[in-house]
Amino acid sequence: MIKIKVPATSANLGPGFDCLGLALNLYNTFYVDEIDHGLVIEGCDKEYANEKNLFYVSFKTALSALHQTVSGVKIIFDSNIPLKGGLGSSATCVIGGVLAAFAIRHIKIDNNDVLKIAKTIETHPDNIVPALLGSVTASVIENDDIFYENFSVPDIYEFIALSPDMELSTEIARSVLPEEISLSDGVFNTSRAVLLALSLSKGSINNIKIACKDRFHQNYRGKLIPGFFDILDFADKNGDIASFLSGAGPTIMILNKKTNTSLKDKLQCYLNDSKMKWKIRTLNIDTKGATITVI
Ligand code: HSE
Repeated sequence: MIKIKVPATSANLGPGFDCLGLALNLYNTFYVDEIDHGLVIEGCDKEYANEKNLFYVSFKTALSALHQTVSGVKIIFDSNIPLKGGLGSSATCVIGGVLAAFAIRHIKIDNNDVLKIAKTIETHPDNIVPALLGSVTASVIENDDIFYENFSVPDIYEFIALSPDMELSTEIARSVLPEEISLSDGVFNTSRAVLLALSLSKGSINNIKIACKDRFHQNYRGKLIPGFFDILDFADKNGDIASFLSGAGPTIMILNKKTNTSLKDKLQCYLNDSKMKWKIRTLNIDTKGATITVI
């Protein structure tokens, strides 16, 4: 049996729409075994225990790209990442499924090959790249390839993930975005995305608040999430480094200094008064990315 553990991810990081992302120490784990025939899926809701399951689709897509087959497969899910929550649960299935195909056929894993297949399933790279590689990543899709870098950051940050009791599909969250942006908004975001990547890696905390501002997506998507703008305002007034929508949402990510120990409790008190229920997780960067163990 093969065990594949894939980290949650937070994409966009404010201005880095569809290009910046990072991996977090919250995981989905998948156990995969070849069986005589058919498909057995355990550990997930019944509605996902079928051939349309994203992990299975990714596994089959990769097997086909590798010119391989299996007689049958059993997949057991051990999931901790909320579905449609903005923490990369889909990317864990895509990366997990593709890696499972390589591993079950003992094919040497090449990150470029894995990502090339993964991007045919999840077409923006900012979750799948950090899910595979860990740390913070910048990535670009050009034709059939993904070009990427991952880089480490100093151990001064923590990520307070605020997840409301609602789901928001990426499809819906993308449908509210404008088709075109102005040159000035393009400059606004690209300049900040570059400054953000450099400042995160160097620990230049004073740049990060400005660098996390965005004009591509948050103003549109924030309206879909009750309390979004007020929560960002509250976190700002209580000493966050910066706050932003995690991926397509609805999770809100508060980037905090590890030394600012009171912020989580203040957020908890603030959200207790909210009409919605919120799950609060304090997370750190995962530096390993996806791991495979034969058990
Ligand atoms: N960059 C993507 C988006 C991430 O914001 O739509 C969600 O998968």
